Amino acid sequence: MRLLARMAESAPRGVVCGVDYSKDMLLEARRLNRELIAQNRMELRLGDLARLDYPDASFNTGCTANTVYYWPAPLSNVREMARVLRPGGTLVVAFRTTALAPYRHAPLGFRWYSAAQVAAVLAEAGLIEIERRQRPLVLPRCCVVIAKKAVA
Ligand SMILES: C[S@@+](CC[C@H](N)C(=O)[O-])C[C@H]1O[C@@H](n2cnc3c(N)ncnc32)[C@H](O)[C@@H]1O
Repeated sequence: MRLLARMAESAPRGVVCGVDYSKDMLLEARRLNRELIAQNRMELRLGDLARLDYPDASFNTGCTANTVYYWPAPLSNVREMARVLRPGGTLVVAFRTTALAPYRHAPLGFRWYSAAQVAAVLAEAGLIEIERRQRPLVLPRCCVVIAKKAVA
């Protein structure tokens, strides 16, 4: 959740918008970021990545952390995130890779991905300049895949 505050820090003249479909997570994120919200520098909504309530090309950057595991349809989620990115904008997907132990606490389903699998989904969604970053000694099994939306 510190990610939202870090994003606001790195875009001091921008607004950070976030969605989560869990009401509990939304309330906690709003509590943690209440000052930024009060300053109109952050807006957090209840919502599903699969159907974002934002117009096309609304954002310079999109980022999702530790959510891919729960997506029933990764390609359509990535397409939806790409839709709200401006041409030339950047999408960042952060997650832990397959190497972790089996996870059994997700009643609605849970799936591990490798960096190559996530990169392939981003490519299939039409994103370009796909780059994978892993720093295994700093954050074990953490992976970030970064891509750009083409300028038409
Ligand atoms: C493991 S938590 C990660 C929270 C935070 N991003 C972090 O890294 O600490 C996963 C969160 O993703 C949310 N989530 C998963 N799929 C989602 C989707 N399609 N739309 C909105 N939220 C989603 C869940 O509700 C949950 O709050």
